[in-house]
Amino acid sequence: MFKTVEWKNNTVVMIDQTLLPEKEIYRKYKTYTEVAKAIKDMIVRGAPAIGVAAAMGVALGACKSKATDMKGFSKEFDKITSLMASTRPTAVNLFWAIERMRKVASDNASLSVDKLKKRLVEEAKTIHSEDIEICKLIGRHGGKLLKNGTVLTHCNAGALATAGYGTALGVIRGAIEQGRKIAVYADETRPFLQGSRLTAWELKKDKIDVTLITDNMAGYMMKKGLIDAVVVGADRIAANGDVANKIGTYSVAVLAREHGIPFYVAAPLSTIDMKIKHGDFIPIEERSETEVTHMKGKRIAPAGIKVKNPAFDVTPSKLIAAIITEKGAVRKPYNKGLKALFSK
Ligand code: MRU
Repeated sequence: MFKTVEWKNNTVVMIDQTLLPEKEIYRKYKTYTEVAKAIKDMIVRGAPAIGVAAAMGVALGACKSKATDMKGFSKEFDKITSLMASTRPTAVNLFWAIERMRKVASDNASLSVDKLKKRLVEEAKTIHSEDIEICKLIGRHGGKLLKNGTVLTHCNAGALATAGYGTALGVIRGAIEQGRKIAVYADETRPFLQGSRLTAWELKKDKIDVTLITDNMAGYMMKKGLIDAVVVGADRIAANGDVANKIGTYSVAVLAREHGIPFYVAAPLSTIDMKIKHGDFIPIEERSETEVTHMKGKRIAPAGIKVKNPAFDVTPSKLIAAIITEKGAVRKPYNKGLKALFSK
């Protein structure tokens, strides 16, 4: 199996997700600025994987610091974490991971600079290993909700979007491990094609039955009775259960409601942002126009055409059958259920 992101001999190694499925190439990053650029350019993507990469990027920056005293180190550390936080605005796991690294630095300010560097590397590695375990728990809880049949997923919320195993794809993996027979339909996910390039690649590699469809086929498939459930991941979940996820998720949720198909969201607690009351307040990333006007460097729209490219949309919680976390599945009313997760 491939490794999405890894700490190796004081470097961060990541599979280049922009080159999949044609090429499986691992890139080695030696500086935090390179890691920040890799997050921005979506070499690594998917909320939990972004969080892990950012933590490792912060650790890398800390290790390379030439500061000899804590005052100098703190100044540099602020610069590192600020750059990392400026990479992508929607996935809250990024800010969650940076905050966790900042807390390690402030809680251990009495250590020597060298000892603190080691502590920060340990923390980044812990965030990585915890993420795999969390995904497996999400898979175990969510797997129970799926019956034998077909599951539609949107974007890539798999091993490539996490430290391993995946959230939405973790639920599918969990159901299969529990003995259910599951066939997956993967939306291609325009414009970045996370579904066709990444989900199709990773499921095929894992020998899970997967069929690729374009985004505009989901309604047809549902009307024909070919979809039994929908499972997607999340980039940020508001306190009321509204979910920001890859653009197009909202349309799938509306279609699922029309056809009486359960729509599940799978995500770790680190994706839940209790400070945000509802979905309207979630910042939505706008990405480059060329993602829409070009495909593999070739123009597919007239030059000078006006373009919109919001990378995420918000699915209102009323359309969500359950939010599956490492601490179990939560159902409506989400305000109460999500809050309770944090005291479990
Ligand atoms: O722009 P991306 O590829 O980072 O968006 C990814 C998604 O929307 C995923 O569904 C989400 O991050 C969940 S990943 C477990």
